[in-house]
Amino acid sequence: MPKILAFTGLPLLILLIWHCKDSQLESDYFNPSVLATHYNGEGFVGSATCLECHAEIYDTHIQTAHFNTSALPTEQSIKGSFDAGSNILELKEAELTMVSEPGAFYQHAQSKFRNDKETRSKFDLVIGSGVKGQSYLTWETDTLYQLQVSYYTPTDRWINSPNFPEYMTKRPVNDACLKCHVTFAENKEPTGGSNQYVKEHLVLGVDCERCHGPAQKHVLHHRNNPKDSTVGYMLHLKNLSRQKRLDICVQCHSGLRARQIKGNPFSFVAGEDLEAYSQNFYTGRPENELDVHGNQYGLLKSSKCFQQSLTMDCTTCHDPHTNQRGNANTFNRKCIGCHGAAQLTCKLDVSETAKMGNNCIACHMPLSPSKSMQVKVDKEGMAIPVYIRSHLIAIYDSLPQKTDRSDAGND
Ligand code: HEC
Ligand code: HEC
Ligand code: HEC
Ligand code: HEC
Ligand code: HEC
Ligand code: HEC
Ligand code: HEC
Repeated sequence: MPKILAFTGLPLLILLIWHCKDSQLESDYFNPSVLATHYNGEGFVGSATCLECHAEIYDTHIQTAHFNTSALPTEQSIKGSFDAGSNILELKEAELTMVSEPGAFYQHAQSKFRNDKETRSKFDLVIGSGVKGQSYLTWETDTLYQLQVSYYTPTDRWINSPNFPEYMTKRPVNDACLKCHVTFAENKEPTGGSNQYVKEHLVLGVDCERCHGPAQKHVLHHRNNPKDSTVGYMLHLKNLSRQKRLDICVQCHSGLRARQIKGNPFSFVAGEDLEAYSQNFYTGRPENELDVHGNQYGLLKSSKCFQQSLTMDCTTCHDPHTNQRGNANTFNRKCIGCHGAAQLTCKLDVSETAKMGNNCIACHMPLSPSKSMQVKVDKEGMAIPVYIRSHLIAIYDSLPQKTDRSDAGND
């Protein structure tokens, strides 16, 4: 290279590159990159984009079960063990071995009786933050399947996926499975019924935009108008009717809602009427027949607290942006907020309530066995139910044992 270029050309070149980089950065800045486009035409930009203006909410949100309910596989996100000795799951008719290689994790499956050859499937997506357990999904080009192996937190073991047979199998995963565990997925079939997806358009986690709606225009508006402190292009959830506020949570916490009336399982966005999109096949079933798993809404709606107060909704007790698991005091304060001195208070003798540490929820929202969510913890074992906090706030005949560890941080 001639010396002269080094003296005059190089600084110029640097300046030129610098300038291009800068203007490119600038337009990147104003136009957040769109991760996927909703069926209504609005763009998803992801919670990392919210960080610059909503840092406080972002910091607590990323610690929630919602944010972590679906993730890419890493040593941290997969709770099960790949260590020799703990990495084998024996089923009646198959043996599964979980193997980790640098940057990749696999399930090897071998049939015990049939002459099938061993299959090797990659862990591509982790479903479940690990509060109770996890399941795993695998891509075959752009079709999505659930692996046979799952993980059960209370025993810290690999298990057969709930409702899977004892022989080698994998199960196609469509929108009806994904809809509550991701923010958005673009199915290649408009009804959402296939297990074929546009892989690049998957938005993982129950992220900000699943509850608030796709936010591309909001971000663009506030980046272009940094002094504007009135909200642009964003729904005020606080001003919605009680039912519409509930619907934000109800889309995922009211049973399967398998009867799709309009669009597909990802069509509904906050502010719309959920019943117009999807319903349960059963309606009006008595509350004692509703399963505690995934139907907090049905149970809460059957409670006197809900029926006889005008304002109670999920956010009366839950802060949607923080991880409140195990924080019994926070919840008990909510009860006392309506059941304090002047109002209806507990009738039970104080000496009795003191035995349960005055923990209102231990007696009135007891941990209850799920009928639909059961796991087999060993090869011969019986199916055991997963315990879930009932949202039927009521007076129960039998008082719980002191084993309700609702204040111990993990149930
Ligand atoms: C460039 C700055 C900026 C970015 C980026 C941004 N916001 Fe905002 N947002 C604001 C401002 C300013 C307000 C109004 C003042 C306030 O509430 O903080 C606001 C308000 C809101 C509100 C309250 C609406 C109401 O009820 O009043 C929500 C919800 C919201 N933003 C969601 C998001 C989400 C989700 C993202 C990320 C996808 C995001 N914002 C990214 C600037 C931003
Ligand atoms: C897109 C579906 C979806 C929406 C919308 C949704 N949830 Fe959830 N929620 C889930 C799933 C899935 C889990 C289980 C997460 C896990 O542990 O993997 C969950 C877990 C929870 C938990 C337990 C958290 C924990 O630490 O174990 C609470 C409480 C909760 N949701 C409340 C709400 C409330 C309140 C709303 C509305 C403001 C809401 N959810 C909206 C899907 C959703
Ligand atoms: C209608 C919404 C909905 C659908 C559909 C759904 N789930 Fe869930 N799932 C939930 C909710 C809500 C929870 C946690 C709270 C509860 O158990 O009530 C949960 C919990 C889980 C957990 C335990 C997570 C943890 O951290 O403890 C796993 C694993 C899981 N689901 C896997 C799946 C798989 C795999 C599918 C698809 C075959 C699926 N779910 C379909 C709503 C749903
Ligand atoms: C599970 C659903 C859910 C998720 C996920 C969620 N929000 Fe919210 N958010 C709500 C609800 C519901 C309200 C209204 C709360 C109320 O009325 O008290 C709200 C309120 C807000 C507000 C208004 C101010 C406030 O604190 O009440 C802002 C800003 C906001 N959310 C931003 C975000 C951002 C940014 C993220 C992601 C980092 C996020 N939200 C994730 C449900 C959610
Ligand atoms: C928004 C206010 C509100 C909150 C919060 C609230 N309740 Fe209630 N609760 C009520 C009302 C109103 C009634 C009905 C009073 C009546 O029957 O006169 C009620 C009734 C009850 C009953 C009697 C139920 C029956 O079937 O007879 C119990 C028990 C109860 N609440 C416990 C709780 C517990 C425990 C919590 C906290 C987890 C709680 N409540 C939170 C308003 C509330
Ligand atoms: C009166 C207070 C109250 C209301 C209202 C309420 N919850 Fe809860 N919720 C609780 C308590 C208490 C827990 C147990 C928390 C714990 O054990 O850490 C809980 C736990 C949960 C869990 C985790 C269950 C488990 O066992 O893993 C989910 C999911 C949930 N709530 C969703 C909802 C949804 C959705 C709504 C609205 C339909 C709602 N909640 C309304 C008090 C309430
Ligand atoms: C040890 C279990 C236990 C604990 C802890 C407990 N309760 Fe109760 N509660 C009961 C029983 C049992 C009854 C029914 C008593 C009766 O009718 O004689 C009751 C009755 C009630 C009633 C209905 C009163 C009426 O007049 O009909 C309310 C409201 C209530 N409890 C709220 C609470 C609140 C709020 C807390 C927490 C501060 C709490 N309870 C703690 C067991 C408990």
